[in-house]
Amino acid sequence: MQISTQGHGKRFLSLFLALLACIATTSLLQGQAAKSSTALSAEQRADTVLKRMTLEEKIGQLNQAGGTFAKDAPSDEELVRKGLAGSVLWVSEPADINRLQRIAVEESRLHIPLLIGLDVIHGYHTIFPPPLAMSATWDPSLVERGQTIAAREARAAGINWTFAPMVDIARDARWGRIVEGAGEDPYLGAAMAKAQVRGFQGPELGTPGHVLGCVKHFAAYGAADGGRDYDSSFVPDDLLWNVYFPPFKAAIDAGVGSLMSAYMDLNEVPATGNYFLLRDVLRETWKFDGFVVSDAKAIGSLVTHGYARDREDAAYKAFLAGVNMDMASYTYLNELPKLVKAGRVTEAQIDALVRPLLVAKYKLGLFENAYIDESKISAVLNDPASAAFAREAARRSMVLLKNDAQLLPLDKSGKKYSSIAVIGPVADSGTAQVGFWGGMITGGKDVVTVIEGIKQKVGASVHIEYAKGPAIRREIPSVFEGLAGVKLRDEPPQSPADAQAAFEQAVATAKRCDVAVLVLGEGVLMAGEAASNSSLRLAGRQQELLEAVVATGKPVVLVLINGRPLNISWAAEHVSAILVAWEPGNQGGNAVADILFGDANPGGKLTVTWPRSAGQEPLYYAHMITHAPETDPDFKSRYQDVKTSPLYPFGYGLSYTKFAISNLQLSKTQAKLGESVGVSVDVQNTGSVAGDEVVQVYIHQQSGSASRPVRQLKGFEKVSLAPGEKKTVHFTLGKDELTYWSASERTWVLEPAVFDVWAGEDSTATLHANFEVTK
Ligand code: NOJ
Repeated sequence: MQISTQGHGKRFLSLFLALLACIATTSLLQGQAAKSSTALSAEQRADTVLKRMTLEEKIGQLNQAGGTFAKDAPSDEELVRKGLAGSVLWVSEPADINRLQRIAVEESRLHIPLLIGLDVIHGYHTIFPPPLAMSATWDPSLVERGQTIAAREARAAGINWTFAPMVDIARDARWGRIVEGAGEDPYLGAAMAKAQVRGFQGPELGTPGHVLGCVKHFAAYGAADGGRDYDSSFVPDDLLWNVYFPPFKAAIDAGVGSLMSAYMDLNEVPATGNYFLLRDVLRETWKFDGFVVSDAKAIGSLVTHGYARDREDAAYKAFLAGVNMDMASYTYLNELPKLVKAGRVTEAQIDALVRPLLVAKYKLGLFENAYIDESKISAVLNDPASAAFAREAARRSMVLLKNDAQLLPLDKSGKKYSSIAVIGPVADSGTAQVGFWGGMITGGKDVVTVIEGIKQKVGASVHIEYAKGPAIRREIPSVFEGLAGVKLRDEPPQSPADAQAAFEQAVATAKRCDVAVLVLGEGVLMAGEAASNSSLRLAGRQQELLEAVVATGKPVVLVLINGRPLNISWAAEHVSAILVAWEPGNQGGNAVADILFGDANPGGKLTVTWPRSAGQEPLYYAHMITHAPETDPDFKSRYQDVKTSPLYPFGYGLSYTKFAISNLQLSKTQAKLGESVGVSVDVQNTGSVAGDEVVQVYIHQQSGSASRPVRQLKGFEKVSLAPGEKKTVHFTLGKDELTYWSASERTWVLEPAVFDVWAGEDSTATLHANFEVTK
């Protein structure tokens, strides 16, 4: 089916007919008849509509129109009016959404409402820290609360479908999209995936004030070769099952309604046409009954990959793999009719792909009411509780990496320091703080920046001076700047002379003040999609600036605004205090100030191993032991020019207080296959202020049908403790924790073996016990 534009006369006739149809059927679909038919299940209602649909209309439901995303595509409105779009992508203005829904419901022949899909990844109006930062809270309930607020705001504005959670395990910080997921660990990743689905969708799909979730990108997108976005992933089956799949499985078990296929080749088969992924694993093994949407234009790109002969073949391959909806490539719309005509695809097969889309629309309540009340949006978006939560979430996601001689918290009374120099290009950058997706939607507006947060915190007590230093910008322009509807723009170029003047002014400012807070890291569009780096060095002249400020001899606090670990090896040696603030969202400046001045105690812990340099990547704690471990005196699996250990390990993060973890107890040291072993451990706040600690439990299976990682996280609990307070935390190591997918058995195994158990504050925990599992 090729899209054609209609003449005016024809358009008038169709409008007139649509009006008549409306009078007759709007009440049927949205009024009494719809009410009585709600006694039927969403599935039954979908089947009723399916029977009335033409082949064209069915294929239309499989098409997601490109909105602002597709430059040369037919008009969204025309497609919607003709029933040739089941969804529209990237429309974020409520008035536009209402207009499109009205066309769908009042002007299209069958009045089927639209799914309105947008990347609400970490907020719609209130922007929270991104998923990597939120995972550093190690607090699934907080993560769920955040996505509940995001869902409420988005739904109030007419978005009923978010392309989230993004659950790709990422073990290479060069990959810019590491910021969108929960880091490197499948166990933690699964917990975060589940929490996000519950936040977005509520207890069940269709809960008012919630949206449809879309777990993505299936699968192993984070394993892109060399961390280069979109590059191929080569991942053996055991790593798929043990590492990359578990967060997807967790999201599905939590009831996520849709899933997005990934862009890249997985083991030489593009994920969007990958039968193994989308049929064998997703449908056959996991019994996923929601729908699959391709990533943007990914069906069309099956040709670019060199996998499909032409667009017809691309449509065929994606269709057979079971992709229900084509995001903005128009391949299904144009090619599926030919495939049906040629007898290669049957209408029954098409029905099977359309049905879950209709079911989702029924469950979301769109057939009852597709519109939003625009007068009510503002109250939802400006709920002060949401801003307060954003501030709390940002505080709790921050990770304190270093705090020599307790430089932090800084005194805000002015008694200890009368002046503070705040220095750095991201200290006043709203766009850097809200990150890629937060900035796409909001443009980085309404952000409390770090400089503002600090000024508000100290008031007149401390003199604050701000010097931006040389500006930073991407070396290669971002593709996203060119897209309509994208509200992010890179910094304008700065002349070398201006940069030098800014550099000197920054150093002079540090010299004039008692303390320097350097706010460095990544600027607009430097992390996220299409933002991979070969090095993790601080962009522009930031490293040089840091060294010059440290050379002044003033105490220095480094605050990072970042979407990924950066190379701070020099800082780790020469700077007294380092706080990772991530992209802290639109309350981020307040949150940074709360931590710097001790109104909040940092409790975040890394969910990604922090490398010494990019050359160590991929780097993750759950690596294999190898025949030449670090403990071997002669042969070590290592580089000769850098230590094997990371700069900071997975799970690491300091507090303004101290904790002692002790008394690791196992309920038994001998267990039969299938039996559980209880683990308990004491944690005490031994310092003088209240604080949060994350007790982490790791295991290692000493022998079996395959080598096992040196350690694997299998339990964690976040505890808040008053000074002196002590708690005992309990974990269970059962079947789920001890089973793995064995590369030699090619299936799941639970094996007799000795298991090590460690409990502690991070992945280098030394408190140890073991137990043996026998037949
Ligand atoms: C491409 C990205 O890979 C995906 O994550 C996103 O959801 C779509 N574009 C739509 O914005």
